[in-house]
Amino acid sequence: MINPSTVLAVYLLTVCGCLAATVAPERAPAGTLYFSTNGAAANNLIAYDINTDGTLGAHGIDAPAPTSPDALFSQGSVQVSGKHVFATNPGSNTVAMFAINPANSSALSLVGSPMSSGGQFPNAIAVSQQTGHVCVANGGAVNGIQCFTADNTLGLRPISNSFRSLRLNLTTPPVGPAGTVSGVLFSEDGSKLFASVKGYPPTPGFIATWDVSTKGELSSNFTTSTPAAGGLLPFSMTLIPGKNALLNTDPGIGFSIFDFAKGDVASSSAYPIAKQQATCWSTYSQKTGTFFLTDAGTSTVTEVKVNNNLGASILKQYPLAAGSFTLDVSVATINGKDFLYVLQANSTSISVMSLKGPGRATPVQTYDFARDCENAGISLDSNNIQGMSVFVS
Ligand SMILES: *[C@@H]1O[C@H](CO)[C@@H](O)[C@H](O)[C@H]1NC(C)=O
Ligand SMILES: *[C@@H]1O[C@H](CO)[C@@H](O)[C@H](O)[C@H]1NC(C)=O
Ligand SMILES: *[C@@H]1O[C@H](CO)[C@@H](O)[C@H](O)[C@H]1NC(C)=O
Ligand SMILES: *[C@@H]1O[C@H](CO)[C@@H](O)[C@H](O)[C@H]1NC(C)=O
Repeated sequence: MINPSTVLAVYLLTVCGCLAATVAPERAPAGTLYFSTNGAAANNLIAYDINTDGTLGAHGIDAPAPTSPDALFSQGSVQVSGKHVFATNPGSNTVAMFAINPANSSALSLVGSPMSSGGQFPNAIAVSQQTGHVCVANGGAVNGIQCFTADNTLGLRPISNSFRSLRLNLTTPPVGPAGTVSGVLFSEDGSKLFASVKGYPPTPGFIATWDVSTKGELSSNFTTSTPAAGGLLPFSMTLIPGKNALLNTDPGIGFSIFDFAKGDVASSSAYPIAKQQATCWSTYSQKTGTFFLTDAGTSTVTEVKVNNNLGASILKQYPLAAGSFTLDVSVATINGKDFLYVLQANSTSISVMSLKGPGRATPVQTYDFARDCENAGISLDSNNIQGMSVFVS
């Protein structure tokens, strides 16, 4: 369901406040949700405050710049970590670091200047929980990983010995989704870096694994893990807490579990999701202990449970508005409760679900941001909206 012949260009994100604050002073926001419009005339990083009940208020941050249309074939192009937001600019081959103002998390300031992503068409970002190092996946003709230190004043600084090619035969921008780069992720202990790459059916894609030094250098070569039979298009990767393993969405079948406990070449099991079309994005809720996967083709959220032996099962499915095109998905813990945020590009909306317990997600809000963007003079192309991450105050 992702248009295979289209591409995205995004240029420098600069920031200006655009939408008026709507949060009353006595209701300080509990956090902020950011997503990228990747519009044809401008790339806007939009910020929405999250109210203390988990629903959305409205703020905006605008960045005019020329782009050409469409999606990134990836998860993680906008990434919140600590008090920073990182965003890729595939059209200018750069990555930008913003500081979140703790007193007003919709006020961002660029830290340093946008840096070369080390390759072309950067479309995904990972941040190490141990070192704060930032690694960017490039999915164009010059493809592969570049890692950076993230300095609070200097911004991103490339780490020497950290550009590592994926040796893919791609163009800039890439033709996809088949064969393209999907995502990048640090292992839970920070000692490995994973990148997911879709296959060209019937040839499956793979997950590349590098060793990461404490300085953020990557091993010169990567090892390759392929999905079990049925797996074809490794897309998003979400860590399975406490295991050396990850859940990987796969629009060719549903999802796969990759277990790295016995080494860098993972064992894998593939799980079909009946009638799925484009299961591409995923996240995890600490409160429910379950995973939430979105399918852009069926506009459905699928909740998955993974047991102690890494066996997975589908707990429940939640159909959202048909044709809304559910893309990126994030969880935020607000006042001790988990909420799920689902970006629905084709209906220019974000759906909020309250995660009351495993199998008990309840829709609490669908917020259409089209009017806010129009009021702020931000042009939206629903085909281009992509990349979402949440900051909790
Ligand atoms: C927070 O920052 C945004 C973006 O700069 C601005 O529009 C808004 O007025 C600020 N809110 C407050 C309460 O200062
Ligand atoms: C790379 O892909 C192009 C098509 O996009 C093809 O013509 C070319 O032969 C490929 N090169 C290699 C080395 O596989
Ligand atoms: C890395 O891969 C290249 C190409 O396959 C090979 O020539 C080289 O020996 C490998 N290096 C290491 C350290 O494994
Ligand atoms: C997108 O939404 C429009 C209605 O706004 C609908 O006609 C169209 O079918 C939707 N596209 C997809 C791919 O579902």
